[in-house]
Amino acid sequence: MSGRNFLATDDWTDDEVAGLLSLAGRLKRGEARGSLEGRVLGMVYFNPSLRTRTSFEVAMLRHGGHAVCLEPGRGMWDLETRPGVVMDEGAAEHMKEAAAVLGRYVDALGVRAFPTAATWKEAREDGVVRGFAEHAGVPVINLESARRHPCQGLADALTLRERLGPDLAGKKFTLAWASHPKALPTAVPVSAAIAAARLGMEVTVAHPPGFDLDPEDLDAVKTIAGRCGGSVSVTGDLDGAVHGADAVYAKSWGSLLHFGDAAAEAALREPRRDWRIDRTRMESTRDGRGMFMHCLPVRRGVVVTGDVLDSPWSAVVDQAENRLHAQRALLLKLLGGIDA
Ligand code: CP
Repeated sequence: MSGRNFLATDDWTDDEVAGLLSLAGRLKRGEARGSLEGRVLGMVYFNPSLRTRTSFEVAMLRHGGHAVCLEPGRGMWDLETRPGVVMDEGAAEHMKEAAAVLGRYVDALGVRAFPTAATWKEAREDGVVRGFAEHAGVPVINLESARRHPCQGLADALTLRERLGPDLAGKKFTLAWASHPKALPTAVPVSAAIAAARLGMEVTVAHPPGFDLDPEDLDAVKTIAGRCGGSVSVTGDLDGAVHGADAVYAKSWGSLLHFGDAAAEAALREPRRDWRIDRTRMESTRDGRGMFMHCLPVRRGVVVTGDVLDSPWSAVVDQAENRLHAQRALLLKLLGGIDA
C-alpha cells in the first residue's frame, strides 16, 4: 500500500478501510506497534487547525518520525495555486514547484485547503489538494478540502464502532445540518456519511431546503451504502430524523446553490437557527441514549447546546482522540512501518 495517496476514503477499497480501522483499534489498545523512524511528514496548512495538525505531529512523534508544518504566507512564501496564471500579484511561488520541492524532502505530504474558488463548479474539483498530489511525487494526504475530510471520516468510523459495537448493520445514523454563522465546506458531512454507510448503517441526511449536498457526493454515499448493506434517505424534518437515532452527527454546511454569493447564501442560512441539537432532541434518540457527534471545533449554543456537549451523549472528544489513532494507522500503512 506504500506510495498511495489518501485523498478520499472512497478511493480505497472496503477491505483497505476496514484494515485501517482494525489497525487503528489495535494501536489504540497497545496491541500493535510500528516504526516511522527516520520518516518525515510535511504538512501544508492553507487554513487553521487544532486537531489535524496536532494529531498528525503527535502520530509521527509517537512512532519515531518527525513532522514539518508550513503555512503559506506565514513564514513561507505565499503560494499561487491556480493553473496557467501570470504571477504578477502577491504570491511568489507556485504550488507546482512547492509540491515538487517538498516531495524531495519528505516521505509524505498532507495538505489542508478549503475552497476559495468563486463557483462550486470550480471549487468541487479540489484543485489544490489534487495539484499537490500531481506534483509532489510522494503520497499526499488530504487534511480537508472542499469535498472530503477522509481522516475525520476514519476517526468517526472508529468512534461509531467503539460506542455502538462492531456490528452496525441496521443502526440509525443521522447527519443533521446545523445552524452556523458562516458557510462551511461539505467535506466533513460527506465524509461522515460515507463512514456510516461503509459500516452498513441506515443513514438519514436532514437539511433545510437549499442545502442539498453535491449530487455526486450523495450518490457516492448511496453507492457505498448499497454495497455495504445500509441505506440512505434525505429529509427536511430534523425532529423526525433524530427520533430513534443511534448517532446524531451535527454539522453545518453552506448552500451550494448560492456558493460564491455570500448575501444570498446567508439569507437562506440565517433563518434556520432552530436547526440546533438540544436536550429534547437527544432525549428522542433510541432509548434516549443516542450518541452526539461533531468533528470540532463546535460553536456552543449555535450548533448544539452546551448541556448536550457536556453530557454522556457527547462523543466529540473521543472522535478527536481517534483522529490520532486513525492517522497512526494511516501513516504506518502509507510509509510501510507496521510490524504487527
Ligand atoms: N476536525 C478537525 O479537522 O479539526 P481541526 O480543524 O482543528 O483540524
